[in-house]
This record gives sequence, C-alpha cells and structure tokens, in this order.
Amino acid sequence: MEPVKIGILGLGTVGSGTVNVLARNADEISRRAGREIRVVHAAARDLKRPRACSTEGIRLTDKPEEVVNNPEVAVVVELMGGYEPARSLVLRAIENGKHVVTANKAMIAAHGNEIFAAAQKKGVMVAFEAAVAGGIPIIKTIREGLAGNRIEWLAGIINGTCNYILTEMRDRGADFGDVLKEAQQLGYAEADPTFDVEGIDAAHKLTILAAIAFGVPLQFDKAYTEGISKITRLDVEYAEQLGYRIKLLGLARRAPTGIELRVHPTLIPERRLIANVDGVMNAVLVKGDAVGPTMYYGAGAGADPTASAVVADIVDVVRTLTADPNNRVPHLAFQPDQLSNLPILPIDEVETAYYLRLQAHDKPGVLANVTRILGDLGISIEAILQKEPREGENTVPVIILTQRVLEKHMNQAIAKIEALSSIAGKVMRIRLEHLNRDWK
Ligand code: HSE
Repeated sequence: MEPVKIGILGLGTVGSGTVNVLARNADEISRRAGREIRVVHAAARDLKRPRACSTEGIRLTDKPEEVVNNPEVAVVVELMGGYEPARSLVLRAIENGKHVVTANKAMIAAHGNEIFAAAQKKGVMVAFEAAVAGGIPIIKTIREGLAGNRIEWLAGIINGTCNYILTEMRDRGADFGDVLKEAQQLGYAEADPTFDVEGIDAAHKLTILAAIAFGVPLQFDKAYTEGISKITRLDVEYAEQLGYRIKLLGLARRAPTGIELRVHPTLIPERRLIANVDGVMNAVLVKGDAVGPTMYYGAGAGADPTASAVVADIVDVVRTLTADPNNRVPHLAFQPDQLSNLPILPIDEVETAYYLRLQAHDKPGVLANVTRILGDLGISIEAILQKEPREGENTVPVIILTQRVLEKHMNQAIAKIEALSSIAGKVMRIRLEHLNRDWK
C-alpha cells in the first residue's frame, strides 16, 4: 500500500518530538496503522534555527499555506499553537479535504465548534488527543473507553507549570515568583506564562474535557477561571496543617441545575490520590456512574510525551481513512445533532466548601463577630485555626474551613467580614473540595 503522507505545521518542541517518534518507532507504527506514515512537508517559522530532529527527506518551508495546499499531503498535523494563524490554516486544510491532527488546546477550546462543523461537512477527521494532558490518552478514554457511562464529574490537574509551582512552594517553602522562573527555564510554561498562572491554559483543557464528557458544545467563554498568583506560601502551609493540599484544579460537574465549569486553586484532602500528584505531572479523575471513580496520570507536557499523543492520533486517522465518515467516532464524542444545551452555571450558583484566611486584630469578640456573620447566612464552620501573631504584626491570622455553601452566599459573608473594623485587609478565599465518590 502507498504510504500516507503527512504535513507538519510547526517544528518546535512538539513538532520535532513528533518527527523523532515517527522515525524511531516507524516499524511498529506502520504495523499498527497498516500503512507506512511518511512526513513529506513541514513548515517552521525560522528555517535557519537548529532542530531537535532530522529533517532528511522532508521538504521545509517557512510558509505554512504551502503545506495545507500541498495536494500530496493527506493529513495536516498542526503544532504551532495559539489561536491564529492556526485556526485559518486548519480551516483551509479542511476545505482542501485534508484530515487534521492538532495539539492546540487554545484553538480547539475557542474555535472547536466552528472547526468541527467544517470538518463534519467535508467528512474529514480532526483529532486532538495531545491538546489535553499531553501524553495521557484522556480524550480517547472519555470519548471511547467510558462511552457506556453517564459521566458525573471530572477533576484534573491539567497545568504542569502550576502544579510544579505549588509543589515547590510546599516542599521548599519557595516563593511564587522564584519558582515560576524555574518552570519557564524547564520549558513547561506557555510562551506567555500568564496563560499558565492565571488558569487560562487549564480552562482551555477543561472546556474540551467537559464537552466530550457531557455532550455539550465547547464554551470556553463561560468557564470560571482563577489562577494561582494570589496563593501565598502561608496558605500552602496552613492548608497542610489542616490536612489539605492546594492544587490548581479544573472541575466539571453535572449539578442539578446545569454544568459547573471552573478552574481555581482548590484545597483537597491530602489522603486523596490526586492530592499527591506532584511536580509537572498531570492527572485527571473521572467519575462515571457505572465505572465509579477512575484516575489517569502521566506527563502533561514535553516533546516525547506530547508526541506520543500526536502519533496515536495520526495512527487513528490512518486506520479510519477509508471508513464512512458517518461511522467514525464523533469529534465531540456525541453525535453532532445530539449535543445538549444544558446551561453552564455562573460561579455564583456553584456550591463548594471554603478555606478563609483573615487577619484579625487581637482583641476580645473578634471571632464571635465573624462566626455570627457566617451563622446568620447559614454557613456552617468545619474547623478554625488561630495562629500566633507574626513578629512585628499586631494582627493574627485566622483560618476557617466551612461546609458547602453557594458562592453568592459566601460573597455576602466575605463582604460583611471585610467591613468589620476588627478585620484588617481582604479575606483570602480558596475553594475546598473533598472529591468523594458521592459528589453528585
Ligand atoms: N503550559 C502547559 C503546562 C504545557 O504547563 O501544562 C502543556 O499543555
């Protein structure tokens, strides 16, 4: 059989990794795919830059349009990242009748609905395993392996940079800014690290996971997104003293009135397996009604782990090249005309437990005032920890863990607490989830 010819857009970390894995495992890959897979054309921004892969036999260009318009290329592998020009190039490739494999989470989360509709019309595949959690085959798992389940919720550590920062803050007592610099040097952070630390990258990935888990369109603009930049070393330490770890979680859950879609720092009991996922590693916990809780762990970034997912998608595409488009696995797991319009809940309507840290003036009656405000709003306290005043300070840190309450009620309580003359500054609030089996 003729080899399947591939064109690659982007020869950076993931692009070079993909060329290397395809070359290294060529025999095994063609035995799996049933055809030889050959990279024939690749676009790179700077052709003079040294590459981490051999480009022998590959036609190189700095004009990506040449690759998407090359009639020889059957599958375009988009590894440039970012919204544009990636979106336009992918739409052009689809228009030209080519299948697409991409690792681009931002493009899929923001423009996936448009891209999948175009692909559906043309009868071509768009595969995006590498867009979420790097090497962990989480898309295939949810879309196919768990297809018999009603997915109830999922929770993921899906940004390695933030997980690395939080781990180092806990293990070394390091400060946020110093660890961020290290994460950048290690090459895990996005080109603009704000995408990592402000939770945007995790929200892109969560949006994709929620769509395939619940059969809803991609709705990145409705995801609640909060990053880790306000988390201090002290919060990490106090959480630990109370038996919790702080992780940046992406959470998607079917609640009685809609779908929760939120990324924020979260306290998790330290005995949970996911609380012990450290460093740049990723993990996704998925609860299906039939299977129960399941967890998937692995490298969420890096050249070879991400290439592992890209190559698996290429093999998948090659295997089904001749299949009737109507009999392929749907892009978003559910048949396109069967997507649900369940609303995404605004954060005010989300119910969660809380960690609150306040700075209280050390005088009688302060705690009584705070607990009265919480009690009047029906907020039940789970634990309180009052620390010694720190040297040179005339206020003491008080940490309160609450039971579950609607976010809008907690907002009212925080506004009232901050208005007390006995409380200094702002209240620090971090959401807390027990992630137990029955979280419905
Ligand atoms: N910046 C991302 C992370 C890379 O830190 O997880 C992988 O998507």
